[in-house]
Amino acid sequence: MPPIPQAARDETLTFLRAWFAAPGRIGAQWPSGCALSRAMAAAVDPRRPGPVVELGPGTGPVTRALLERGIVAERLVLVESNAAFCRSLRRRYPRMTVICGDAFELPRAWRDGHRPPPAAVVSSLPLLMLKPAQRLRLLRQWLTAMTPDGRFVQFTYGFLPPVPLRAGMAASAAPRVWRNLWPARVWCYSPVAG
Ligand SMILES: C[S@@+](CC[C@H](N)C(=O)[O-])C[C@H]1O[C@@H](n2cnc3c(N)ncnc32)[C@H](O)[C@@H]1O
Repeated sequence: MPPIPQAARDETLTFLRAWFAAPGRIGAQWPSGCALSRAMAAAVDPRRPGPVVELGPGTGPVTRALLERGIVAERLVLVESNAAFCRSLRRRYPRMTVICGDAFELPRAWRDGHRPPPAAVVSSLPLLMLKPAQRLRLLRQWLTAMTPDGRFVQFTYGFLPPVPLRAGMAASAAPRVWRNLWPARVWCYSPVAG
């Protein structure tokens, strides 16, 4: 087995420390693995213009996969509530916009700030810890704020869609990623005109 790089070990330790301090805020015990991070990034089309918003980037595995996918750093807006993660993300990715705050406050601030509609919102937020109505509100706000062909991407360890499907939206699921602790599935939501 190849040795685990020091950077990856440091990231996992940082993540574990944050989880022990506030398990309810972090959700998962481990950062997403490469396979899951790539499955998240694969749901984003880098040719669609507009910012790409990442909610809950943590130590940045999905961020890295988005860069590998061809999304340039200047297009990425990261929203993370954990201050230590934010410091580390800012250090590593000085060309990205890192907002240290609550992802649930962002849709309103985004609209009020007259920012361009995002091409995609990629979320690793621990949504299953929230009530379905709260998840639905977040999803609806973003589906309204994004371009008509935009995508809201969310992974879940569960077997049901992470946000209940309602009128005005479409959803599809990618195959479950088994090479991840824990196995997870990526769901993709998009607005439906009507
Ligand atoms: C399950 S972890 C995922 C981290 C990383 N994207 C990964 O896949 O390994 C969830 C992340 O969302 C962040 N988070 C939780 N609630 C948040 C909120 N309301 N606003 C912004 N970030 C939040 C946590 O601090 C944590 O970094």
